[in-house]
Amino acid sequence: MKIIKVDNYNEASAKAFEVFKNQIITQPESILGLATGSTPRKLYEMMIEDHQTNGTSYKQVKTFNLDEYVGLDGADEQSYEYFMNHNLFDHIDIDKQNTHVPSGIGDIAKNIADYNQMLKDNPIDLQLLGIGSNGHIGFNEPGTAKDSVTSLVDLKQSTIDDNARLFFGGDVTKVPTQAISMGIANILAAKKIVLIACGQNKADAIKTLIEGKESSECPASFLQSHPDVTVIIDKEAASALK
Ligand code: PGA
Repeated sequence: MKIIKVDNYNEASAKAFEVFKNQIITQPESILGLATGSTPRKLYEMMIEDHQTNGTSYKQVKTFNLDEYVGLDGADEQSYEYFMNHNLFDHIDIDKQNTHVPSGIGDIAKNIADYNQMLKDNPIDLQLLGIGSNGHIGFNEPGTAKDSVTSLVDLKQSTIDDNARLFFGGDVTKVPTQAISMGIANILAAKKIVLIACGQNKADAIKTLIEGKESSECPASFLQSHPDVTVIIDKEAASALK
């Protein structure tokens, strides 16, 4: 595991941006695994600015997102499909047909089976991850098995609370209790993985990811067995490390 410590969120985003830009320049038909939440926002801003300023093109890029809330359709402002369109896809030259976010409405079992099949057919070159304060990656909550694939998951109360703090107008009762998430096995199948973590509330999860034992109690710890993971952390997220 390669660990990059930086001073702050902007620097962490800039480090991740370097990796993504290099991927797209060297392999214009890359398949990217993307994430939502507060962490990737600045990285997406940098990708947009770079596209607008330098013309970096996403015309041949395909994307697959980690997860989506069950019960929210893509027009809902709190859905992850909306987040991706609003924060990235609407502002670059990507073909929307090449962007994929699991659908949280309709026939959930079919949506899940279809997503797993698409991931098999489209191996991810570079996967972006955040990390939950409880060590989740995607919505793979503590207790998730290493061989899990895309499935319907129940969100832990800590995740619901975390997400209400930044989204859903602070109203925990509005946060869906279930989601569709890529599994750990889908994530580990990516050729290269970049995880960004910033802030004090990530310090314990980062300590377990880097210094702990591989265990489903901290699903992010399963990244220890992947051959090409870069973890980018700011001072606060690094503060519990030895
Ligand atoms: P955050 O979420 O980026 O909003 O902190 C990260 C995650 O839950 O994976």
